[in-house]
Amino acid sequence: ASKQRLLVVANRLPVSALRRGKDSWQLEISVGGLVSALLGVKEFETRWIGWAGVNVPDEIGKEALTKALAEKRCIPVFLDEEIVHQYYNGYCNNILWPLFHYLGLPQEDRLATTRSFQSQFDAYKKANQMFADVVNEHYEEGDVVWCHDYHLMFLPKCLKERNSKMKVGWFLHTPFPSSEIHRTLPSRSELLRSVLAADLVGFHTYDYARHFVSACTRILGLEGTPEGVEDQGKLTRVAAFPIGIDSDRFIRALELPQVQDHMKELKERFAGRKVMLGVDRLDMIKGIPQKILAFEKFLEENPDWRDKVVLLQIAVPTRTDVPEYQKLTSQVHEIVGRINGRFGTLTAVPIHHLDRSLDFHALCALYAVTDVALVTSLRDGMNLVSYEFVACQASKKGVLILSEFAGAAQSLGAGAILINPWNVTEVASSIGYALNMPADEREKRHHHNFIHVTTHTSQEWAATFVSELNDTIVEAQLRT
Ligand code: UDP
Ligand code: G6P
Repeated sequence: ASKQRLLVVANRLPVSALRRGKDSWQLEISVGGLVSALLGVKEFETRWIGWAGVNVPDEIGKEALTKALAEKRCIPVFLDEEIVHQYYNGYCNNILWPLFHYLGLPQEDRLATTRSFQSQFDAYKKANQMFADVVNEHYEEGDVVWCHDYHLMFLPKCLKERNSKMKVGWFLHTPFPSSEIHRTLPSRSELLRSVLAADLVGFHTYDYARHFVSACTRILGLEGTPEGVEDQGKLTRVAAFPIGIDSDRFIRALELPQVQDHMKELKERFAGRKVMLGVDRLDMIKGIPQKILAFEKFLEENPDWRDKVVLLQIAVPTRTDVPEYQKLTSQVHEIVGRINGRFGTLTAVPIHHLDRSLDFHALCALYAVTDVALVTSLRDGMNLVSYEFVACQASKKGVLILSEFAGAAQSLGAGAILINPWNVTEVASSIGYALNMPADEREKRHHHNFIHVTTHTSQEWAATFVSELNDTIVEAQLRT
């Protein structure tokens, strides 16, 4: 049988483009959990539709980029600078993202955002319609159209209005907040109604799904059932589909000679010191300042450890045109500088902070040599870094310190040390506990998480979502 065709629609394509000349483009793998997980999905005939991360004003450039992307089975949606400013930087990343992660708006931005809200929301709808137009151009009967994330909450409605027979699923990669938070959005009802146009709506955890259903009942006055949300006899199925990673890809990578070499270098470089690791996009939700301050407190209280431990923090630059992200970058640099000044010596510093991304092999090597990984998200849809760390620890059996506010806390909670990232005292003492943990406890904890990570893969996540979507549609046909 031929494979099911799947159109994956997400704001961010798995590759981002850099212009090299009039008609030449360089493609780089994009960073982020959505892309990582979906790249692990192989059993469908997949086409990606999304934005390549650049403004392409000219026809020659558009044509050349479309061709280059086609080789990766990617189809571009071209967004101009103004749309990117209002839709991506504005509505998506300055309004929806902080709100869905319970961060609220920065105080000084509140009034400005209140004023620009309507024009940003209009741009959001316009951008979603542009994605819909590209989907319609490439859609073939029988395709499953899978829309992703908070950028595209308007898309299911755009698609269904034009073709009610299209199989449309929508999945949110972030938390869905309590309805009390969602209520504050001026566009609260319109967003919910557009998502409900989908046949199946998915979230990482049961809690997020429940929040969504209660937002629909409280704000729209609809009926929530165990199956989903019902509106005048039409059911939108709502369920939890916890995402995973392609764990084999990580496990196999550790066998490669270049990764082994890299591990050897790292071990020599940090000989005599325990390695602690953070890997995050430099985002407010990751709690990077909180993590570093907890590490400082640990060093303060444990002078014996000062020359025996190092924190490697990979902080991948992200959304750098949004002012809040610029502020965070300088804040983090300031704290790191202060702590290194305080505890550094002529030959060593306690924190190595990198404002850059690593390639896949370097990342695997780093995960494998780490003694303690620190994930301190203030909120996080799932957090795949924690999964990737576990996958790479089969021989070392290091410790995962994990925020209870990451979706992953629900799946890796039994093996990890769960912490509240706001409680610096608790995090500092967990660092001590992790560094001193005896081998048998580490093994037990690791084993628990390793089983989970290797049995709940991104493949299965996607297969379950798509088969549930197909079933939902068959059931709906039986009902009418
Ligand atoms: N990542 C990467 N290069 C880096 C650092 C991170 O490709 O230099 C990847 C990492 O492997 C992971 C993803 O970025 O798959 C981050 O996903 P996560 O769910 O932890 O957080 P998100 O960035 O989606 O908020
Ligand atoms: C999170 C979001 C993704 C997004 C990624 C990277 O994982 O859920 O939708 O792609 O962050 O952010 P960016 O803005 O660069 O796409």
